[in-house]
Amino acid sequence: MSLDFDYFYDWTYKYLNINLNAYKETQLQRRIGTIMKNSGVDNLRDYSKLISSDEKVKRDFLNYITINVTEFFRNKEIFDEFEDIIKGILVPRFGTLNIWSAACSIGAEPYSLAIIMDKNKIPIKNKILATDIDEPILNKAKQGIYKENEVKNIGDDILKKYFTLNRNDSEYIVNNTIKDMVNFRKHDLLLDRYEKGFNAIVCRNVTIYFKNDARDSIYRNIHESLVPGGVFFTGATESIYNPKEFGFKKLSTFIYEKI
Ligand SMILES: C[S@@+](CC[C@H](N)C(=O)[O-])C[C@H]1O[C@@H](n2cnc3c(N)ncnc32)[C@H](O)[C@@H]1O
Repeated sequence: MSLDFDYFYDWTYKYLNINLNAYKETQLQRRIGTIMKNSGVDNLRDYSKLISSDEKVKRDFLNYITINVTEFFRNKEIFDEFEDIIKGILVPRFGTLNIWSAACSIGAEPYSLAIIMDKNKIPIKNKILATDIDEPILNKAKQGIYKENEVKNIGDDILKKYFTLNRNDSEYIVNNTIKDMVNFRKHDLLLDRYEKGFNAIVCRNVTIYFKNDARDSIYRNIHESLVPGGVFFTGATESIYNPKEFGFKKLSTFIYEKI
């Protein structure tokens, strides 16, 4: 089996516009090797040809490398902390809020934020911006249909208020009030320009896949995108070791304020 990753990374950058050089190597290369073999080829040159010629192979490849696991109010206690910071610090400080959920996967995260806003009657300046590199996943997010395990952190009262069960009671559909509060758009954290003027940016469980220099440049871009006093909410395995270096003050282990 020949695995010429240098060739493949150049190829994916040129033809798929994805910068795999920024992702941690061991985990990514293992995943690429596995998905390549599952497609029935044994080298990356043939695999790139197959990706170009077969839409399904391309889709499977993109799906497999962009891990989409998510759920509503992921790490519930930390989300509760974030809600307290929104109510106790951000609302008194800014009044209305401009929020970005970056690398939002199938939308559970931005919809969780929209539920917090609606439940607490907090006005939002713009619709919550929800972005991801993976376009088909964003289409799924717009539909707002979820399985039981993805809504497991939601109490019955909130489920009843903001979701409807589908006909065979197996999936939960987000209500239009919540859907209307979120604007989904494609954005690559590594290659695209960052919008500015956010009071809060939620970017969780994605920087763990990147090499340190790519992760650090995301931190710097997020800092630039926030207004002074705005906050950055990271994932439960992504606490920032040296927040000051990036212009942040620690509010709690996973929540940082722009100084
Ligand atoms: C594990 S999910 C995290 C979802 C959600 N933030 C959460 O914490 O539950 C990681 C997401 O990052 C997205 N992603 C991967 N590389 C990205 C990039 N370069 N720019 C933007 N999103 C990216 C994937 O498509 C995937 O949806």
